[in-house]
Amino acid sequence: MPRYSDELIADIFAANNIVDYVSKYVVLKKRGSDYSGLCPIQSEKTPSFHVNADKQLFYCFGCGAGGNLVQFVMRTENLDFTEALKLLADNAGIALPEKTGSYDDVHHKKRARIYEMNIVAARFFRDCLLDADKGAEALRYFSERKISRKTINHFGLGYAPDTYDALLAHLKSYGFTDDEAVDASLAVRRDGKVYDKFRDRVMFPIIDVRGNIIGFGGRIIRDSKNSDFKPPKYLNSGETAAFDKGKNLFAMNFAKRADISRLVLVEGYMDVISVYQAGIKNVVATLGTALTQDQAKFMSRYAKEILICYDMDEAGRKAALRAVDIFSAESVRTKIVKLKGAKDPDEYINRHGIAMFKTALDSAVPSTEFRLSLLRPENDINTTEGKIGFVKDAAKVLATVGDSVEVDAYINNISAETGIAKEAIYAEYKKYVSAKTGKQAASPVRRISRGAGAASLPLQPPTAKTEGELINIIAQDRKVYTAVKDIMKPEDYSTETLRKLAALIYQKQSEGKEPDFAAVMNEFSDDPQVQSEASSVLYVIKKYGNRRDAAEQMVRKILLGKNEAQIAEHKNDIQKLGELIKEQTEIKNMKLIWE
Ligand code: GTP
Ligand code: MN
Repeated sequence: MPRYSDELIADIFAANNIVDYVSKYVVLKKRGSDYSGLCPIQSEKTPSFHVNADKQLFYCFGCGAGGNLVQFVMRTENLDFTEALKLLADNAGIALPEKTGSYDDVHHKKRARIYEMNIVAARFFRDCLLDADKGAEALRYFSERKISRKTINHFGLGYAPDTYDALLAHLKSYGFTDDEAVDASLAVRRDGKVYDKFRDRVMFPIIDVRGNIIGFGGRIIRDSKNSDFKPPKYLNSGETAAFDKGKNLFAMNFAKRADISRLVLVEGYMDVISVYQAGIKNVVATLGTALTQDQAKFMSRYAKEILICYDMDEAGRKAALRAVDIFSAESVRTKIVKLKGAKDPDEYINRHGIAMFKTALDSAVPSTEFRLSLLRPENDINTTEGKIGFVKDAAKVLATVGDSVEVDAYINNISAETGIAKEAIYAEYKKYVSAKTGKQAASPVRRISRGAGAASLPLQPPTAKTEGELINIIAQDRKVYTAVKDIMKPEDYSTETLRKLAALIYQKQSEGKEPDFAAVMNEFSDDPQVQSEASSVLYVIKKYGNRRDAAEQMVRKILLGKNEAQIAEHKNDIQKLGELIKEQTEIKNMKLIWE
């Protein structure tokens, strides 16, 4: 929701042309006021991504993503509304006034302060690492792990010295307080005293896609001398106003610059660093926790394929299977990378070399195939019983696969492998799909929220498309608005998005103002699916031979659709049915009245 005045937002829009901005991301081909190119939100081969200079909107006819410039920035830069607006304001040299005292303001200020503190801390850690005295052992640790000086610099690695207040004292010299250091999770308070949180650890700055240092991970460099107290191998920043472990990924800032249609997901920071150093730059890791749905969503916004390259032990395999499950809700292909003779990617590269690692990536197994392969040792398909067991288990696996073409291909294979008829396997598969209808119903919606818009249509009321066209025509033509407004009121539209859209457009028309499509879109920034629906209505530019006739036909079609639905609903109520059939005749003869 915009929290700045409409005027200010309008100024920011006016100062930034959507066509110019989008051109930084996509090569656009001009045709009149419409420009088209390859969709930067979901990779594609044919250009279905459009930008309109008059409306200052974008819309992708392939994936359904659409909106105004702020919303384009939100998606491509992974920012919230206010942050995206701020970026555009900065671009145009417009200062945004602070809304003092609001939660957002306090939160943003706190966060900005933590970013500053983290920069100071990261420089301090780096200086300690490079200090011949303090950093010698830590530097040796990195060199033993075959991390080059160049890589150290690239990732901004550092060392937190073995003292209780070296960082704190340094932060204070920059004007930060104890409380702020604790809030930033750089210090801890114990028995009323404040200490450095990270001590005697090599440090990994965690950087978001905008380049802010949001937190740190720190690793011990030797086994603890004290056998009673074993410090954790890795220590991460706690949750702060700047750091959300479940929403960010290690090295996404670097991966984003590489070819990101394919992303390698590993478990550890050291894995990322080794893989990156090996020249594979599209690599990320979670932040010391299991993969979350938000992270999967974030990755699949950029990538078409995820190579899951987890540790080769039982825990790693389980985590990989859970990750596959989480990704399955995000319509992105996943593959499992198998590394033979090493426990993790870092060890594998050091043992077998970069070429072998690249080969392992290229031979990654599609996750469905991987999951099916796990079922084979459990079922001996040379026996009838084993075949049945395998098919049932396999059907259960396939029921979680979102892509019907993929399901079909696997059913064919399993049929060939077992000799069991495709139809029988399909029936079994169907059983599991309908058993989890909750998930099933949710999946098309989820998909749109990532963009695949066309998939939403089956869920829409039958007249929704025509209603959208009517709103579009009303927005363009005040005469149409005047003729239609009492017959189709905003509350008469059949989805919430259409009702809200109609209310906004009607409001503007009634005030005699030209509806500003980009401004209207601001009201639909909270939910990508709703945003997609609203922009599909506003973007479409249809040429009608005669707008009045077109509008009249639309109104008739909508009213008849509603009437038909009511007839179906009241088919046992003779009296009501009579009224409805009479109404049907009236609708067919209805004429709009033009001023
Ligand atoms: P190295 O031992 O340095 O090679 O690290 P690794 O990445 O191979 O370690 P491991 O596979 O044990 O752990 C993977 C990731 O889990 C690490 O990068 C950390 O993010 C996280 N992790 C590991 N140990 C701990 C721990 O003791 N505490 C926390 N909070 N996270 C840990
Ligand atoms: Mn490791």
